[in-house]
Amino acid sequence: MMDTLLGATIEGGDDLIKKSVEQYYGETLTTSADLKTSACCTPGGLPTYLKKCLRLVPDEIKAKYYGCGSPTPQGIEGLRVLDLGSGSGRDCYVAASLVGEKGFVTGVDMTDNQLDVARKYVDEYCKQTLGYKENNMKFVKGEIENVKQAGVENGTIDLAISNCVVNLSPDKKAVLQGVYDALADGGEFYFSDVYCDRRLDQELRKDPVLLGECLGGAMYVEDFKRLCVSVGFTDPRVLEGHVIEVKDEKLQELLGEATFYSITYRLFKLPAGRLETLCEDYGQYAVYKGTIEGNPNAYSLDDHHRLETGKPMLVCGNTGSMLGETWLGKHFDVVGDRSKHYGLFDCGPSPVAASSGGAPAGGACC
Ligand SMILES: C[S@@+](CC[C@H](N)C(=O)[O-])C[C@H]1O[C@@H](n2cnc3c(N)ncnc32)[C@H](O)[C@@H]1O
Repeated sequence: MMDTLLGATIEGGDDLIKKSVEQYYGETLTTSADLKTSACCTPGGLPTYLKKCLRLVPDEIKAKYYGCGSPTPQGIEGLRVLDLGSGSGRDCYVAASLVGEKGFVTGVDMTDNQLDVARKYVDEYCKQTLGYKENNMKFVKGEIENVKQAGVENGTIDLAISNCVVNLSPDKKAVLQGVYDALADGGEFYFSDVYCDRRLDQELRKDPVLLGECLGGAMYVEDFKRLCVSVGFTDPRVLEGHVIEVKDEKLQELLGEATFYSITYRLFKLPAGRLETLCEDYGQYAVYKGTIEGNPNAYSLDDHHRLETGKPMLVCGNTGSMLGETWLGKHFDVVGDRSKHYGLFDCGPSPVAASSGGAPAGGACC
């Protein structure tokens, strides 16, 4: 009952929902040109490093891309990456070049037609295009609600990514819990997905076209944050977001006043109790070393923490842990510990957060 209230489940039988989604991505759509809304489309203005990586990715992989954001961060050399709902594999191909030969990328998807395309170029891409001795990428058939069954052991992933997929799941709590368990301490779920400004009626949530277009299954953004907290991702941070346009008149009529957003969230896994529900002040500050490739001058942790290289920034305990005790740790100096508490951290309004393309800004903390 609680999960239904949270919008984390779609009624109508998990198998039926999955069949409908599988049919949409395996048969109904042949390329991104077949989509009826802009929900599964990434708006222009890709960062330069992504454009550079994408030039190397085979055209067929790119033609079947249905993502809504760019969940492939820089500075991830050597990391173990898991992509949930990897589709034709575009983000995995990008990640395989970003993690380098010492890293590894696993894509999980349930749709055979998508997996066939993703697997087609792995050998040629890793060995010839990237010049690696061994392939550093594989695609596994499986369901994102049970990545363990797909062979992903607990605590073995440094970075989980996903692009426009979690909304399609009939059991989002299982997805988040599975990712949380798969991540090692200091790991992160960095992913783009579709959210709504309200709880949609169940009828809309199981409409096959709305569902396939990543709108029907979109969670009310506040429920999503509650769900994160319930599995241990205590302080979800927004990196960026934009409003999704629904141009199709029939769909507009069905959806009424509901507004949809594509948002990239960052969910960090830290040892139990390390992330607090509010921003607490321990007198800490963080300094970015300027060492993340492509970010020599500044780095954005989220939509209201942009750290300039070499310039100390006062941070709350949670931000200090995200910067200092995760895979980002080698790129930051975090000064001070939690031995003395100075009360609640003074967050203040953030002009950056207020201008994040109309999408709900900020995080649970600041
Ligand atoms: C909107 S597409 C996005 C694909 C890919 N991330 C991209 O950016 O191109 C959704 C993908 O998620 C897969 N998918 C949806 N629900 C799934 C589930 N419960 N388990 C595994 N894969 C799922 C579909 O098969 C499809 O390939």
